[in-house]
Amino acid sequence: MAGIRGLFIPGPTNVPERVRRAMDVPMEDQRAPDLPDFTLPLFQDLKRIFQTQEGQVFLFPSSGTGGWEAAITNTLSPGDKVLAARFGQFSHLWIDLCQRHGLEVEIVDAEWGEGVPVEIYAEKLKADRDHKIKAVLACQNETATGVTSDIAGVRRALDEAKHPALLFVDGVSSIASIDFKMDEWGVDIAVAGSQKGFMLPPGLAILCVSPKALAMAKDAKLHRCYFDFADMIRTNKDGFFPYTPPLNLIRGLRASVDMLLEEGLEKVFARHHRLGEGVRRAVAAWNMKLCAKEKRWHSDTVSAIQLPDGFDSNALIRHAYRRYGLSLGMGLAKLNGKVFRIGHLGDLNELMVLSALGTTELVLRDQGVSIKAGSGVGAAIEHFHQTGTALAVAAE
Ligand SMILES: Cc1ncc(COP(=O)(O)O)c(C=O)c1O
Repeated sequence: MAGIRGLFIPGPTNVPERVRRAMDVPMEDQRAPDLPDFTLPLFQDLKRIFQTQEGQVFLFPSSGTGGWEAAITNTLSPGDKVLAARFGQFSHLWIDLCQRHGLEVEIVDAEWGEGVPVEIYAEKLKADRDHKIKAVLACQNETATGVTSDIAGVRRALDEAKHPALLFVDGVSSIASIDFKMDEWGVDIAVAGSQKGFMLPPGLAILCVSPKALAMAKDAKLHRCYFDFADMIRTNKDGFFPYTPPLNLIRGLRASVDMLLEEGLEKVFARHHRLGEGVRRAVAAWNMKLCAKEKRWHSDTVSAIQLPDGFDSNALIRHAYRRYGLSLGMGLAKLNGKVFRIGHLGDLNELMVLSALGTTELVLRDQGVSIKAGSGVGAAIEHFHQTGTALAVAAE
């Protein structure tokens, strides 16, 4: 196929040229005496991405799923109770992982399209007078449904109940794209992955852990070896790792953190919001609905879009890929066949979003969905024009 292809799944995301070049280095000695000159400042700068002074960052060679496992195995013991909401495939999978590790999960089921039900968390935490719940899980951005949850609200629920449970947040598809405040929100473990907002290939679970969670590790009895924080702490303090680190990815991470900090986190979040809103305007102009049920749940990194009855989103996604080289995200689990997802996170600008929206319109028309050609793109253009003129003029 001539021309470019478009990667608009919600991760892995496009890897910027600067990051790709940073990774393109000869293999290096992971025990070189000057490696700490590179790693120690990186560990410090990563804390800025999590907005933490107190937290400690760990880099595990793993995907995000390994980050979930590291969070629970370092802090909990078999039979411990955790509170978790299930409202999409990723919140479901973390619960499944907890259960397979022998934890007792108090599951709060919410509709797919809603977020963490903070009010129900608050009731459950108040009712738990003996503090049987040891950890509270919250998926900040449910990638399957395009729903962002209120993590500050979960912290309030814990505080109002004066409950000491740890707060674990899945930020795999939010951290480095949507505001995340480790210290202010009192988060004990945050899990991110390299392949989303960090704009890297998959392969790194990036965790940030509070002193309170680190203290729990001493008594936690779940089995762990590869993901043991203690081994990381022992070696990271001198700038090294307990086993062979994926240094090319970590070189890329240095470039990605530099890019995020140079742009400024506030601007990164604002850019994601603006681009995400452009996609939402397009969806509204197509007279189609998001899976996210209310505005407060809208995700700035991914939109899950419901196809009208009688259409198969898998067929649409296949056609987009085969005919136009556009990758859209599938509907997962019970949303399979019903929704398609547009990932709008990472190294992204108006040019890219408009191209994806235009091609999506073409695909919708090819599939026989009744939309007016140009309507979604037009709505997004109008939004970008209204909100971006000042920015553009300032840059000229
Ligand atoms: C919100 C969320 N959590 C966890 C994961 C699992 O991460 P990984 O596939 O990197 O193991 C994903 C993957 O897309 C995700 O979107």
